[in-house]
Amino acid sequence: MTYKPAHIELRDITHAYQTEAGPLPVLDHLSIKMEEGSFTAVVGPSGCGKSTLTRLIAGLMRPDEGQVWLGGKMVTSPRPTVGMAFQNPVLLEWRTILRNVMLPLEIVGKRMSRTAQEDRARELLSLVGLEGFEDKRPSELSGGMRQRASLCRAIVHRPEVLILDEPFGALDAFTREDLWQTMARLRLEEKFTAVLITHDLRESVFLADNVVVLSGRPATSQFVLPNTLPTNRTLEDLYSQPATDMLAILRHQIQVAQGRAPADDAKATA
Ligand SMILES: Nc1ncnc2c1ncn2[C@@H]1O[C@H](COP(=O)(O)OP(=O)(O)O)[C@@H](O)[C@H]1O
Ligand SMILES: [Mg+2]
Repeated sequence: MTYKPAHIELRDITHAYQTEAGPLPVLDHLSIKMEEGSFTAVVGPSGCGKSTLTRLIAGLMRPDEGQVWLGGKMVTSPRPTVGMAFQNPVLLEWRTILRNVMLPLEIVGKRMSRTAQEDRARELLSLVGLEGFEDKRPSELSGGMRQRASLCRAIVHRPEVLILDEPFGALDAFTREDLWQTMARLRLEEKFTAVLITHDLRESVFLADNVVVLSGRPATSQFVLPNTLPTNRTLEDLYSQPATDMLAILRHQIQVAQGRAPADDAKATA
């Protein structure tokens, strides 16, 4: 299995959930483009529709209006070539770490030999610093280590798209920064198109090529910030002037999205 990182295009998406209280509009004419192999962070107010967006990209749901395109094909059903990781790593306790990571290969990698599947899982575990933990059970690992394993499981089958829905949100600050560095390393070695949902603006600036700010619900793409930091960044770069400037712009945009600042001042159109 080889990587074919997909170009992702969300075209004019509008969606509402049908609830007992009536329709709840969640996305409103939302359009976003993501290049092959790019890393896009999506930030926005809580409850604005970020997780809904990930379900649409993965094909787990279809929008009321508009289309999702992955690698030139319209998404109409769940895609096996999408990898996902969430805030809660949901590893299976009755499987070892190695066999948890191998799980997607057992489903979509049937043409790989068992040995090749195992080698692939071991290669990734070693890349994220989990060499020696292959035979442990999830409960024997720390939260940060479980999340590392969950990242390996999300990309073991070389998905065209990697969707990360607040995967570092439950970790303490130091562990989180370690995981950012792990994620950056994975990205150098592996070729996926990544979509990261986060509410941590520093995380978005450390990891992403572009940061998309969603408006409040129903969400549309309010602002897109191209990252000006060097590609091979370090945590120190987060304290540089360009990073400080980007964080100020993003913080302002979040306030606009929350309705706490007017949209029509200089920064909103920067
Ligand atoms: N299956 C569903 N049925 C009804 N309402 C939902 C469903 N899923 C999410 N919602 C509501 O839609 C809104 C957007 O949800 P979500 O996409 O999870 O937001 P976010 O991830 O940005 O916090 C929220 O108000 C949430 O309560
Ligand atoms: Mg969410």
